[in-house]
Amino acid sequence: MINKLKQWKRKSSSEFDERYQELTNHPIPNHIAIIMDGNGRWAKKRALPRVAGHHEGMKVVRKITRLANELGVKTLTLYAFSTENWKRPKIEVDYLMKLPEEFLGTFLPELIEENVRVTMMGYEDSLPPHTLRAVHNAIEKTKDNDGMILNFALNYGARAEIVDAVKNVLKDVENGILDKNNLNEETFSNYLMTKELSDPDLLIRTSGEIRLSNFMLWQLAYTEFWFTETLWPDFDEQHLVEAIEAFQGRSRRFGGLQSEES
Ligand code: FPP
Repeated sequence: MINKLKQWKRKSSSEFDERYQELTNHPIPNHIAIIMDGNGRWAKKRALPRVAGHHEGMKVVRKITRLANELGVKTLTLYAFSTENWKRPKIEVDYLMKLPEEFLGTFLPELIEENVRVTMMGYEDSLPPHTLRAVHNAIEKTKDNDGMILNFALNYGARAEIVDAVKNVLKDVENGILDKNNLNEETFSNYLMTKELSDPDLLIRTSGEIRLSNFMLWQLAYTEFWFTETLWPDFDEQHLVEAIEAFQGRSRRFGGLQSEES
């Protein structure tokens, strides 16, 4: 593991290494989902344009992907652009739409090498062709990888996802593909964009906002939440370790009782 850390060239300290080792002695969340918030405020604090915050945020995606992969996280879902983000100024939207190209342009070889599989959930129709090209290329080049799934939520909105799932269920019932008596939580989940993924075990949101902002509303039903005041561009490996430590200290009952209570 230590060799691997060196390979990823992450800055490390003895305190961090100790916490890292301790962390790996306990269950690591299979699926971590992150609402990466605070890029604009990070830039504003430095009198920089908002897009500078997004660029810095992109660099953090790289660091956190590396660490999550090292730790054995199975799926990392990142909220990169919501269906509501189109309301932002055009210059900012255009910039955000260029980030997947920049990110994958430099990072894809490393993702391939590290056996990471790139996936995307969201509405493809309204994404610009250059954004889609970059994402599709990464999906195609990593489709046979069976390591961590790096899942980008891009033009994603949970309410629209649920409404579309309901429409498709109705269509399948009408066409005799689905018997309505067989509709349950599990079959319904298969109509969501996450049908191939497990539900997130841990949700992280940065920048002090305590809300879900239309993110994975169905899938987060039993997820542990961890919020931090840290702005996304300032988020680093220590914060991820802290979030996972907090997760490891929680008792997950999924609506039941703890074993000693039963
Ligand atoms: C929210 O911060 C952040 C976003 C809308 C975009 C998040 C995107 C990235 C971190 C980069 C994505 C990278 C890749 C590889 C696609 P905000 O702008 O709402 O911050 P504010 O609340 O401080 O204004």
